Amino acid sequence: MAVRGATLLAAILLVALCAGLPADAAIGVNWGTLSSHRAPPGVVVDLMRANRISKVKLFDADPGVLRALAGSGIQVMVGVTNGELASIAGSQAAADAWVAQNVSRYVGRGVVDIRYIAVGNEPFLTSYQGQFQSYIIPAMTNIQQSLVKANLASYVKQVVPCNADAYESASVPSQGVFRTELTQIMTQLAAFLSSSGAPFVVNIYPFLSLYQNSDFPQDYAFFEGSTHPLVDGPNVYYNAFDGNFDTLVSALGKIGYGNLPIAIGEIGWPTEGAPSANLTAARAFNQGLINRITSSKGTPLRPGVPPADVYLFSLLDEEQKSILPGNFERHWGIFSFDGQAKYPLNLGLGNSVLKNAKEVPYLPSRWCVANPARNLDSVSDHMKLACSMADCTTLYYGGSCYGIGQKGNVSYAFNSYYQQQKQDPKSCDFDGLGMITYLDPSMGECRFLVGVDDSKSSAVASCGSGYCGFCCGLWVLAFWVFMYLRLMGSA
Ligand SMILES: *[C@@H]1O[C@H](CO)[C@@H](O)[C@H](O)[C@H]1NC(C)=O
Ligand SMILES: *[C@@H]1O[C@H](CO)[C@@H](O)[C@H](O)[C@H]1NC(C)=O
Ligand SMILES: *[C@@H]1O[C@H](CO)[C@@H](O)[C@H](O)[C@H]1NC(C)=O
Repeated sequence: MAVRGATLLAAILLVALCAGLPADAAIGVNWGTLSSHRAPPGVVVDLMRANRISKVKLFDADPGVLRALAGSGIQVMVGVTNGELASIAGSQAAADAWVAQNVSRYVGRGVVDIRYIAVGNEPFLTSYQGQFQSYIIPAMTNIQQSLVKANLASYVKQVVPCNADAYESASVPSQGVFRTELTQIMTQLAAFLSSSGAPFVVNIYPFLSLYQNSDFPQDYAFFEGSTHPLVDGPNVYYNAFDGNFDTLVSALGKIGYGNLPIAIGEIGWPTEGAPSANLTAARAFNQGLINRITSSKGTPLRPGVPPADVYLFSLLDEEQKSILPGNFERHWGIFSFDGQAKYPLNLGLGNSVLKNAKEVPYLPSRWCVANPARNLDSVSDHMKLACSMADCTTLYYGGSCYGIGQKGNVSYAFNSYYQQQKQDPKSCDFDGLGMITYLDPSMGECRFLVGVDDSKSSAVASCGSGYCGFCCGLWVLAFWVFMYLRLMGSA
């Protein structure tokens, strides 16, 4: 026992020392990859390390991403996508294969510190009309079996990131209940989480409340106090986050799990694409949130108990996300798609501002613009094509390129498409209306992007990057000794 304890302690110390990370850092990030300009995973991992981010939530189990996380010391949540739920729920073999291919393989070989498996992503979302919800518990049951077989059940825990529309309240937080049709499944889920020591994971978006509801008091979305506090018996709520969190606490209480730990799977504020989405607001919200979490203040129903973990949404902009909910969907990043900080933010992890990504492999400095010598009367079909494939959301009201004029619009669209096509000269033709230029056409806030060369994706940056070499070796060793002793102990 003493040896085991000592080894565990040594392993923890090593991780803390080698990765230079604070031991109980609660702020993590979501790393989504719906972008046609994906910086190499190693560059993104280095970006997280430079910013001392020690927890990352993924939406799938991309091998390139997981390889890059090996030896980084970053704790990882991998994701079973909603599309994979049916087969895993229906077949133990499918669950075994998923865990073998996407968890055991990495935990064993390169030491990716996988701590959580997210089973589905917002599977109870009202708009899915129940199509995934019956798979959740069977999928978790099967995956649990797979984890037990792989001897990982006590190290890797399952969670289900839920949208906040899983619960509701007729008035105040204390009236919170799960949606009626979800009561049974939520009770099973809470029992499962409780017995395995995993948190209930919820995504909370005060931005969306403000965006979708014109009566929503703006200051209530932020953390600076509100002239419209919500009074709930003895409790007074000054911000939407606390109110929403306690609505969930109440809903959990009504099914008998009022003390279940809660983690925030996604929370954030977009920087453009809607009138209330801008740099000032995003900074105010995220900084207010971080300060609140790190102050350990908690909420009226959980005073002094901040959420278990909080994963910001998002690390990077993703310009291939669906804009059905709104143009802002592509602008949630605290960093732009290429890892450049959008605004000053103190993550509470040791750096007072964000550090930018280094060694981003940009394509050459050239852009595609509208040929000034040509008449643009017949440009609209070309614009439509370019904007349906690439991103033009910045051109609209509330966007950083709004108001750059018709020619500016055309050039912006042409360039977005040209960069997405990796600067293929043919993609700047547009029947002779396009023209390649070496002069940066960016104007003021409006940035004409240069794409990223994601063919160089396989760079294994972290473990090989000198900084970690020796420590990683020690960490790998300690990990194996720990696993060995754990196995001996449980035998
Ligand atoms: C592992 O995850 C990847 C990426 O999310 C997925 O494509 C693959 O099908 C998974 N493996 C199995 C065996 O299900
Ligand atoms: C930014 O958003 C905030 C909050 O929604 C809003 O009050 C403010 O007017 C916006 N600022 C600009 C410059 O649009
Ligand atoms: C540029 O495009 C945006 C979005 O379609 C539009 O609102 C704006 O009016 C356009 N500007 C001009 C001058 O055409």
